[in-house]
Amino acid sequence: MKLFAAATVALFLLAIIQTTPADAEDQELSRSRRSLNDVPVGGRKPYDEKQAEEQLQRTLDKLTAGEGPHYRIVKVYSATRQVVSGTLTRIDADLVDSNDAQRRCIVEIWAQPWLEQGHEVTFKCHNQPAVHARHSRSVEWAEKKTHKKHNHHTLNKVDHLFHKFQVKYKRRYANSAEHQMRLRIFRQSLKTIQELNANEQGSAKYGITEFADMTSTEYAQRAGLWQRSEGKPTGGAAAVVPAYAGELPKEFDWRQKNAVTHVKNQGQCGSCWAFSVTGNIEGAYAIKTGDLQEFSEQELLDCDSKDSACNGGLMDNAYKAIKDIGGLEYESEYPYEGKKKQCHFNRTLSHVQVSGFVDLPKGNETAMQEWLLTNGPISIGINANAMQFYRGGVSHPWSPLCSKKNLDHGVLIVGYGVSDYPNFHKTLPYWIVKNSWGPRWGEQGYYRVYRGDNTCGVSEMATSALLA
Ligand SMILES: *[C@@H]1O[C@H](CO)[C@@H](O)[C@H](O)[C@H]1NC(C)=O
Ligand SMILES: *[C@@H]1O[C@H](CO)[C@@H](O)[C@H](O)[C@H]1NC(C)=O
Repeated sequence: MKLFAAATVALFLLAIIQTTPADAEDQELSRSRRSLNDVPVGGRKPYDEKQAEEQLQRTLDKLTAGEGPHYRIVKVYSATRQVVSGTLTRIDADLVDSNDAQRRCIVEIWAQPWLEQGHEVTFKCHNQPAVHARHSRSVEWAEKKTHKKHNHHTLNKVDHLFHKFQVKYKRRYANSAEHQMRLRIFRQSLKTIQELNANEQGSAKYGITEFADMTSTEYAQRAGLWQRSEGKPTGGAAAVVPAYAGELPKEFDWRQKNAVTHVKNQGQCGSCWAFSVTGNIEGAYAIKTGDLQEFSEQELLDCDSKDSACNGGLMDNAYKAIKDIGGLEYESEYPYEGKKKQCHFNRTLSHVQVSGFVDLPKGNETAMQEWLLTNGPISIGINANAMQFYRGGVSHPWSPLCSKKNLDHGVLIVGYGVSDYPNFHKTLPYWIVKNSWGPRWGEQGYYRVYRGDNTCGVSEMATSALLA
């Protein structure tokens, strides 16, 4: 058994298990390929064969460097990928072993990139006992020695990414204890990013953003939406959604009707709720008067005593507060400062008044569409988990990674559309969401989130002011 002789420090042959009939596995694989369009959540998803082949080649190279089993790839038939604790890639391929025998094999590569140890690999070849191997750290070390010029990259990938992150986002931590803490959070973020990407059901990409060194609690505080139960009962009127005459248009965008102002930035203040509300009123006002104006969030931070300025708030509270205060001033008259100051509202500068507000029915995205078309942009609460690392595309995170119950951010729906991916027999309906994290975040400040299954709770807290 040549394989046993090859088991050195650099490689653990974990076990030899029962012969697995490769045919059964083949069938399983082709079954999962056939059901390409309705893969259950957490199930196996088809994986690009070219990428699978590259991953397999890298894995074989590492095993060879560590004196593991030697295989050469002849042909890759198909591959699937599944999110487990990490990712499990299954590749159906013809391989040639060190005795020059060619066999059909299923190779399983279990990757947990956040762990320092290497991947666990299982070869299940036709009429052969399964072979388990792992390229351990010593293999990685061996590899580093042979690729000296890449040493600084591979020495510690996380440290390297963290360093780049600190430079890019100008992070200066107070002391080494904080540095260590932020590094730990950053490492966790990399894991979350990997999970989001591996489970993505839409077309979104997730990556390192300026929020990668914040815990989800810090991040949610900075967004600043209260749970409805935290505030007092809101008691908005249930919206009467007029039936839309005719067929709903396939796409619609209030930005093209001059009803949406530029993307603003709330900064380090939990005032999302105020931006969501001004966006809603800016839209309704523009549609009513034909005049697009920016309204003041700072007035709400200073004068709305129902909410807590930079410590969060609720859109419903803010509509009531605006009614009580007597309206909103323009942004230019009452500019944003990102912290609570003395209220200096001036009634003669009140340009828009609110008579009340409505709560749209929960869980009915068709009703939201109809409302948007007739009335304008809609304020919504959303679970911002996926937004923390969003880099563009139609975001449709796996629901356990974005619970619809945990709304922590207030934003504004300004339109909707559909993305078609004919090659994948996939259609992705989406909402166009205006965020308040500046134009450099997401898609020029916007987020596209899947429409139709209450992704991240988009229809849980949909509201609008009614103008007087
Ligand atoms: C309110 O605004 C008007 C118009 O700009 C101005 O004339 C007036 O002095 C302001 N009042 C106060 C108290 O600042
Ligand atoms: C959703 O709202 C629309 C329009 O208001 C209504 O016609 C439809 O019956 C609602 N659907 C559900 C499931 O409540």
